[in-house]
Amino acid sequence: MLRSLLLTAFAAGVLRGALAQCPEYVNYSTQKHDPASSGTYALSYMRPTPACRTYNLSEVEQTIEDMRSTVTDPDLFRLFENTFPNTLDTTVSWKGFARGNPDEELTFIVTGDITAMWLRDSANQLRSYKSLLKTNSSTESLASLYRGAINLQSRYILTSPYCNAFQAPVESGLAPEDNGAAKTDQVVPPYDAAFVFECKYELDSLSAFLQLSSDYFEKTQDLNFFGKYQWVDAIRTLVNVTEGLRVGTYADDGRVNASPYQFQRTTTRASETLMNDGAGSPVQGGTGLVRSAFRPSDDSTIYQLFIPANMMFSSYLGRCADIMAKLDGALSKQMSDLAASVRAGIEKHGKTSLVDFGDVYAFEVDGFGSVNMMDDANVPSLLSAPIIDYINASDTTYQNTRRFALSKSDPYFMHGPVISGVGGPHQGPGKAWPMSVIVALLSSDDDEEIVQGLRTLVSSTDGLGLIHESINTFDAHDYTRPWFSWANGMFGELLLKLKDRKPELLKSSFQ
Ligand SMILES: *[C@@H]1O[C@H](CO)[C@@H](O)[C@H](O)[C@H]1NC(C)=O
Ligand SMILES: *[C@@H]1O[C@H](CO)[C@@H](O)[C@H](O)[C@H]1NC(C)=O
Ligand SMILES: *[C@@H]1O[C@H](CO)[C@@H](O)[C@H](O)[C@H]1NC(C)=O
Ligand SMILES: *[C@@H]1O[C@H](CO)[C@@H](O)[C@H](O)[C@H]1NC(C)=O
Ligand SMILES: *[C@@H]1O[C@H](CO)[C@@H](O)[C@H](O)[C@H]1NC(C)=O
Repeated sequence: MLRSLLLTAFAAGVLRGALAQCPEYVNYSTQKHDPASSGTYALSYMRPTPACRTYNLSEVEQTIEDMRSTVTDPDLFRLFENTFPNTLDTTVSWKGFARGNPDEELTFIVTGDITAMWLRDSANQLRSYKSLLKTNSSTESLASLYRGAINLQSRYILTSPYCNAFQAPVESGLAPEDNGAAKTDQVVPPYDAAFVFECKYELDSLSAFLQLSSDYFEKTQDLNFFGKYQWVDAIRTLVNVTEGLRVGTYADDGRVNASPYQFQRTTTRASETLMNDGAGSPVQGGTGLVRSAFRPSDDSTIYQLFIPANMMFSSYLGRCADIMAKLDGALSKQMSDLAASVRAGIEKHGKTSLVDFGDVYAFEVDGFGSVNMMDDANVPSLLSAPIIDYINASDTTYQNTRRFALSKSDPYFMHGPVISGVGGPHQGPGKAWPMSVIVALLSSDDDEEIVQGLRTLVSSTDGLGLIHESINTFDAHDYTRPWFSWANGMFGELLLKLKDRKPELLKSSFQ
């Protein structure tokens, strides 16, 4: 164990630039490195040298080799080669064991350019390797990465269930990252900044823990693991917290209910704080829906009954209830009842009708009748409803919603010669997010749409060969977040899914 702790501390040092010969990836990812790919786009090679990678898995290397002969276009292959391993190459900041329980694996996965672990990002960063996941008790395996992330997320949720991003575990020896943006935050309930990086309450963060758990169980059937550490207790906390967030703003007699969560930040950005002195806009009780103060973009909601996160929550809570059935029958029943009642709430209160599109799912509602119709690139989004396993992509209401989200009727749909896709207030109008293009292709059965979308992705990286957060629809040089591991992984996942679903499309040329 000592050896492995030393090794992992070594890896953490690499990420943090302690080794002179390992460049900081945040800089490395903004510069081009040889050899360039042989196509028109001459995409940079972006993998760190082997000694500087934060985790190695032979099955990931094998997958890259297999894709070399499957993907014909040299630029498309280069994009896959760079992005698919990016989470392992650059973000497994520390891996070790819990103090006080030497069997309990812990994995600290940073989001990319910020040394903190987001519940949502880390669950999705690992999801990009889900197709390779197999039962394996080795502490050097992909399964171990998943177990370590589930254990660490359990710890985070037990202590600070309303928070979205966390510091490295104390066992790592890594110093807490300073979050300058959070300095003025006034949050109820309070939190410890040595443990929490940021405390924006987002229903999708809790849903991400459920997704991660359900993904691991689906591929390994490792029930024993879920009974061993703090998972059951973390779920109990999660159910308690989300039940509390179904309460409306007003009691029946007109009194104002205390809001279980409040957040205020001193900021010039409207999307970084909550109205009504930190409580957010009023919510009608009794809808079955759970509120969310913030979205997966970490921007505040306009109406707190944010439908995509409710979809994701209902979807994976129901799946985790099946795991829990063998561990705690009463809790499992509570979970499946909650999942069903959230789904009923979505179907009853989370839809609206648009003249040009028919019945659609709403982005946000307040239960009083107000509806915010838009989509945002971050998952969960309306576009991603089938990806989060809420609904079949062929569903009519989903198809209507999809047409809306990818049309000029969506106030955050950006279009232009470089890229067209959904953006959001996080980077503002004019910036389309490649992630939304990836989600559109993951949920599409239309060959032409898929090939056109791949063309957009391969041609809009500014020659760097990585998936950026957002891109100016008129200027590929103007992009945000060169190092965004989640989006990179998702592109890898897209190509692997296409290999199974539509291998002939991977023979397309983008020259
Ligand atoms: C890396 O980039 C950051 C921010 O752009 C900059 O402040 C820093 O000096 C760079 N470090 C190196 C080693 O180039
Ligand atoms: C990954 O493998 C390379 C050799 O191929 C090695 O130098 C490096 O230390 C390994 N990284 C980790 C974190 O084990
Ligand atoms: C388990 O994972 C280890 C480390 O990645 C690997 O060497 C081993 O082959 C795996 N075992 C099985 C049965 O897949
Ligand atoms: C959550 O747990 C606390 C403490 O056990 C309890 O007082 C509260 O009623 C619970 N809330 C819900 C909504 O179950
Ligand atoms: C969606 O529904 C169609 C038509 O009923 C079916 O063929 C397909 O397998 C379903 N897809 C999923 C992912 O369930």
